[in-house]
Amino acid sequence: MSTSSPFDTKDYWEKRFASSTDLSTVGYAGLGKPFNQWMYRLRRRVFLRTVTPLAADVDLNTVLDVGSGSGFYIDRWHELRAGDIRACDITDVAVHRLRSKYPQHEVTVLDVSSESDDLPAWQVDAISAFDITFHIVSDTRLRQAFVNMFSLLRPGGLLIFTDNFVQSTATHASHHVSRTKTTLEGAVHAAGFEIVSRKPAFFFMNQPVDTDSALHRRSWEIMTSTLRRWPTTGYLFGPLLFPIDLTLVKLLSEGPSTEIMVCRKPADKRAKI
Ligand SMILES: C[S@@+](CC[C@H](N)C(=O)[O-])C[C@H]1O[C@@H](n2cnc3c(N)ncnc32)[C@H](O)[C@@H]1O
Repeated sequence: MSTSSPFDTKDYWEKRFASSTDLSTVGYAGLGKPFNQWMYRLRRRVFLRTVTPLAADVDLNTVLDVGSGSGFYIDRWHELRAGDIRACDITDVAVHRLRSKYPQHEVTVLDVSSESDDLPAWQVDAISAFDITFHIVSDTRLRQAFVNMFSLLRPGGLLIFTDNFVQSTATHASHHVSRTKTTLEGAVHAAGFEIVSRKPAFFFMNQPVDTDSALHRRSWEIMTSTLRRWPTTGYLFGPLLFPIDLTLVKLLSEGPSTEIMVCRKPADKRAKI
């Protein structure tokens, strides 16, 4: 298990966002805008399907979106009529654009994996952290991120996040780690959270990092090399796969790609550090 990394997360994202923070820059780089828009349509449905029933039991007076990027999940919290919506991102560039786009919301520069002395003194009802933990490449910093998010939640509050939760072997790239379910669940529990649920968020529409099927992996390679060459084919692949993924992720309990987890901070606990 790696414990540190020379990878400079902030620098990586500042450069990636230099020209824009639209969905194709924030989402799966290289696959083009049409396919990314369909990926985000699926993300929206999965988010609403997961969080709407929870919102019946938990007050959403104050929520925080961590690693906000384009602000896609700020809009989702709006859809759920959350009260005070706050956001943060590690980059100055995303925060600057988010402050212009959402002048009514508090948006702050924050590395959620940094020492907890840097944290704002917030106690929010729910935190969304989508497609960010697999970009925290150091395991030590990942564990710190969960401890920090635990501290930022009020007792009984919810953390909703996505990661890959692979069943067998973790894979590491310079800016991305697909960690095992065991490692991620260990980090979540070590911070003090209870796990409420975990469900697939994608089936065919995102990289199949957690499948033994050579056919599935090959199909993904063929589709993504087509999308890289002709991004407008996203107008074909997107609407074709969207209803299939939407159905499969509802029916299945384990998926081949990114999954969505809901955790709760126990009503009677404080942060472990
Ligand atoms: C793949 S993008 C996802 C953006 C958004 N959550 C979404 O799902 O559309 C990852 C985001 O996390 C931010 N990020 C990466 N590491 C971070 C960290 N340690 N603390 C806060 N934000 C971070 C990046 O700047 C980027 O906006």
